[in-house]
Amino acid sequence: MSNIEIEIYPDDQWVDRVTSRWAAFMEKEPAARLCLPTGSTPQAIYERAASTIDFARTEVFVLDEFGLPPGDPARCDEMLDRDLLSRMSRRPLNVHTLNPQAPDMTEECRRFATLVEAGGLDLTVLGLGRNGHVGLNEPGSAANSPTRVVQLRGSTIEDAGRYGSDVSPTWGVTLGLRQILASREIWLLVIGRHKAGILQRTLTEPIGRQLPATFLRRHPRTTVLADESAASLL
Ligand code: PGA
Repeated sequence: MSNIEIEIYPDDQWVDRVTSRWAAFMEKEPAARLCLPTGSTPQAIYERAASTIDFARTEVFVLDEFGLPPGDPARCDEMLDRDLLSRMSRRPLNVHTLNPQAPDMTEECRRFATLVEAGGLDLTVLGLGRNGHVGLNEPGSAANSPTRVVQLRGSTIEDAGRYGSDVSPTWGVTLGLRQILASREIWLLVIGRHKAGILQRTLTEPIGRQLPATFLRRHPRTTVLADESAASLL
């Protein structure tokens, strides 16, 4: 049994439709606590949203971070800034990031998870990894996995190579599935034919650690927002 809802939009309408949906959400919850992903999937949404949605009362939490030096173009904090925050006329009240250079990473993960849990998340937006990861919760991650340091799998390392760095990260820090699944609402953004196979598997394979995105099917308010290319095998 699955609670997940699926909305499929024509490829050339996906950005408009998802941005409008986000604008409607923000109208209702202007002070929302948002957890946001980086990477290629949300880029066009962010470009549109930055100039059309008022985020001034929101609090933003980054979903994950790569083990790369500060300022590296493939860092999630850099991507979030480049793709969304730097384009806003009024920035969010607060933007919380994960610091992979913290002297004590256990403490850093605890700090971040405590901040998230203190008020919870109203909306968590996710991309879908080629191997079924959400955030950097790689295959093998349990539904109650905490915010933690993770070693990256081959396809994740390869895909991170597209984000503009000279070096590929081999590890990262991620919000745990425990905190993600506690979010009041979750949107899984999936675009492109190259994601069609993993989206189909996410929706049909047995729920379990081998494909962490399958845990979203147990969440009471998760919506997949896919374009027709990504939905072509459904
Ligand atoms: P992408 O990454 O948006 O760059 O395809 C998604 C992910 O790995 O979560």
